[in-house]
Amino acid sequence: MAALAGPTTTGLLTVQLTTFWRRWLIFIVALIPLIWLTFNTITQQLGADPAKTIVLYTGEWTLYFLFITLSITPLRRLLKWNWLMPHRRMLGLFALFYGVLHLLSYAVFILGLDLGRLAAETIKRPYITAGFPALLILIVLGITSTQAMVRRLGKNWARLHRLVYLALILAWIHVLWQVRSSYFEATVYGAIALCLLGIRVYFLWRKRQARSG
Ligand code: HEM
Repeated sequence: MAALAGPTTTGLLTVQLTTFWRRWLIFIVALIPLIWLTFNTITQQLGADPAKTIVLYTGEWTLYFLFITLSITPLRRLLKWNWLMPHRRMLGLFALFYGVLHLLSYAVFILGLDLGRLAAETIKRPYITAGFPALLILIVLGITSTQAMVRRLGKNWARLHRLVYLALILAWIHVLWQVRSSYFEATVYGAIALCLLGIRVYFLWRKRQARSG
């Protein structure tokens, strides 16, 4: 018995340690865009319109983290990369983090923290009208991402967290409605979002098939 318990405990410890170091590594890597932005702001290398560069850059990283977070379940199920799962929450929180920076940089650097103007722009510009609910969803999902909330909400937790796909669609609409000349970026983002949504629908369909069969 003791001989059996030994390696199992050691194995578990190794997995926990690896997860711990990986968490730190992902945390540091996820901060690189912010470090890059801070460095280039301090050294004044953000181009002719630094405020706009900051807004665009933080918006792009919000979307990238949304993509990365939504890729984790497909990667786990298709490639059996189970080690990614403990890091999904942190990556989702980074999407929220860059989303909040995005909103703040727009409100502070472009609008000079004029909340009246923020409200007026939200009504006037449809792409901002679409961006707000997307960010609101990320905030709600961030607040309810704790273990205590998972327990408290039970089955409703998974239902609520499916809203992330609505956030993804709204974020894409937000980008699409900003296009002034080239549709290239919006098309690439749309294709990625469609793939992620398609995989999700496929998994749901298979689950239903398995249940009924
Ligand atoms: C989950 C939420 C959001 C995501 C994923 C997101 C994503 C993005 C992305 C990717 C861009 C760059 C588009 C490009 O390169 O052309 C962008 C730009 C922008 N976003 Fe957001 N955004 C979000 C929410 C918001 C919110 C709530 C606001 C409202 C204040 C906002 C305001 C802006 C503005 C003003 C721009 C720059 C438009 C321009 O001057 O060209 N975004 N966003």
